[in-house]
Amino acid sequence: MPVVELTVNERAVRVDVPGQWTLIQLLRDGLGLLGTKEGCGEGSCGACTVLVDGRLTRACLALAVRADGARVTTIEGVGTDAALHPIQDAFVRHGAIQCGFCTPGLVITTKALLDEHPWPTDHDIREFLSGNFCRCAGYNLILNAVRDAAGVVTEKR
Ligand code: FES
Ligand code: FES
Repeated sequence: MPVVELTVNERAVRVDVPGQWTLIQLLRDGLGLLGTKEGCGEGSCGACTVLVDGRLTRACLALAVRADGARVTTIEGVGTDAALHPIQDAFVRHGAIQCGFCTPGLVITTKALLDEHPWPTDHDIREFLSGNFCRCAGYNLILNAVRDAAGVVTEKR
């Protein structure tokens, strides 16, 4: 069985993975990191989004063995047990979490957005989040949360 060595949320890990496993299987079944959710399983919904070497990645499509040597950030790596990240805090305060299934992917995507566009326009936000579906259709609440988080995160820089 192939062995994959990678860094997940700043922690070096070594995992035996069946060759056909995807990155989401490595994270959830191999490492027990259950924050990343699988929705469609075919690259369409964005629920499984993580950062791989800083790039937004659909973990349901990425082969686990291809992550060898990569740096992966999942929702568990955003914020700490003691304090929510400002993006998470904004999602909670704006009620942008309904069923919450899409939320980890949305938070990760928002993090990538704010890393790239510290002062995003509504157009930037809509463009960046266009691949993340919320089946509860809470898009206005999500937009408000991201606007709010952008202000807070950017002010702290
Ligand atoms: S579960 Fe990966 S994009 Fe839907
Ligand atoms: S809160 Fe996004 S799918 Fe329900």
